[in-house]
Amino acid sequence: GTTLGTSAAEKGRYFGAAIAAGRMGDNTYLTILNREFNSVTAENEMKWDATEPQQGRFTYTNADRIVNHARSRGMTVRGHTLLWHAQQPSWAQGMSGSALRNAAINHVTQVASYYRGKIHSWDVVNEAFADGGGGGRRDSNLQRTGNDWIEAAFRAADAADPAARLCYNDYNTDGINAKSTGIYNMVRDFRARGVPIDCVGFQSHLSNSVPGDYQANLQRFADLGVDVQITELDISGANQAAVYGTVTRACLAVARCTGITVWGIRDTDSWRTGQNPLLFDGNGNKKPAYDAVLGALNGG
Ligand code: G3I
Repeated sequence: GTTLGTSAAEKGRYFGAAIAAGRMGDNTYLTILNREFNSVTAENEMKWDATEPQQGRFTYTNADRIVNHARSRGMTVRGHTLLWHAQQPSWAQGMSGSALRNAAINHVTQVASYYRGKIHSWDVVNEAFADGGGGGRRDSNLQRTGNDWIEAAFRAADAADPAARLCYNDYNTDGINAKSTGIYNMVRDFRARGVPIDCVGFQSHLSNSVPGDYQANLQRFADLGVDVQITELDISGANQAAVYGTVTRACLAVARCTGITVWGIRDTDSWRTGQNPLLFDGNGNKKPAYDAVLGALNGG
């Protein structure tokens, strides 16, 4: 193939980008999006603060701009994200106990129902595990409603949109470490007990290198019977192009690695200000990292 999307499709995979509704009027941005990518993720527009700014009042205007654009051009959509400790609306931040649990599950049900049939994969829960060596859950208002909040969210999402792939998504899970093993144990438990989880997202916000056991880590999750996806890829540093190639080849080497999403289009669109971690420069030109990914997708 000659683009990221067509080359990935030839390998049975998608290649996506996180996009912002507010940038869709930028012609350079839109041209690259439409030419290169066959999947999109809303960078912020589907988060809890964006979709339910007041309790029980749902707003989908910006998210719909992204979803409608994608669907009209045959791109699939990754939904990001139904529940997260960050970017909660202020009304939820102060809640606790059964009131918060009920509000959270209602949020999952409402948003997943609204988009039923339009979402390829949902990040049902984002970043619920703690960093460091413990391998346990992150403390949050959601976690304090009870350890079963994650499975309750997956069951609600499954009831609302049975066709969507339901994912758990996190960062610093790129190698085999305490955090990724904690998540691995949760996924194994969910599969054993019939909790509806279909995929695990590895954000892959990387700095100049990738753990040597990256592919092995993807594979051990795939061996649990779930798909794996690289969901927020960006890579800083002088080894950028080589590391992009390594990550792409790792996904292609794992049969259940179904797609890669980069977290933005141009360096100037990135949340990592000044780090230039993406595939296109600020003028929209292809970088060596782009060539490395395209070459890897085409078997180079
Ligand atoms: O839209 C408001 C604007 O009205 C306001 O004037 C401005 C002032 O701060 O803020 C704007 O909102 C910002 C929003 O991005 C849109 O640009 C928020 O402050 C800012 O916090 C938010 O950052 C996003 C961040 O998630 C929030 O935690 C980044 O764009 C987004 O790339 C980032 O994405 C996360 C993933 O969801 C989860 N994994 C990590 C990843 C990187 O942090």
